[in-house]
Amino acid sequence: ADVAGDAVRRLTRWCDDFPAPGIRFADLTPVFADADGFTAVIDAITQAAPDADLVAGIDARGFLLGSGVALRLGSGVLAVRKAGKLPPPVLSRSYDLEYGSACLEIPGDGIDLQGKRVLVVDDVLATGGTLVAAADLLTDAGADVIALAVVLELAELGGRDRVGKYPLTSLVQI
Ligand code: PRP
Repeated sequence: ADVAGDAVRRLTRWCDDFPAPGIRFADLTPVFADADGFTAVIDAITQAAPDADLVAGIDARGFLLGSGVALRLGSGVLAVRKAGKLPPPVLSRSYDLEYGSACLEIPGDGIDLQGKRVLVVDDVLATGGTLVAAADLLTDAGADVIALAVVLELAELGGRDRVGKYPLTSLVQI
């Protein structure tokens, strides 16, 4: 049974015109708040890269996923933050959103990413800008990004093409 997929299809909150007119926002908060849904999602994403030795979770719902998956793998977890949250030095990467632009950051010291096999996780793939920015940021910092994984892929926005060279797993495609 596809417990993860069923939970996503049943529990996702669809919000029209958020955070900007014309955007249909998929809020997975209720999926993660559901015990069976959260466990199934974590287990399915863990299988996307069983040999990862670091899981990077993207601000903000990706943090929840990254932490759960890292515990399953016995790996570390790295929070990829929205700009302005981390003390310097930081490494940063700007990117375009469906609405405006944004910037992701990781610490510029204290973490040895050289040769680390990294799985990057997030809740939703829309245009792919966020995931590509995170993967490129980690790659530039010396990591080996072996896989990207999301819970929900909004297929019509073409994110899969944009992530291109990075292997991508999505649990549900809509
Ligand atoms: C959402 C979602 C992804 C991103 C996907 O995050 O959580 O991170 O958009 O969009 P993209 O594929 O077009 O880049 P958002 O920026 O809304 O922030 P949040 O996670 O803090 O809600």
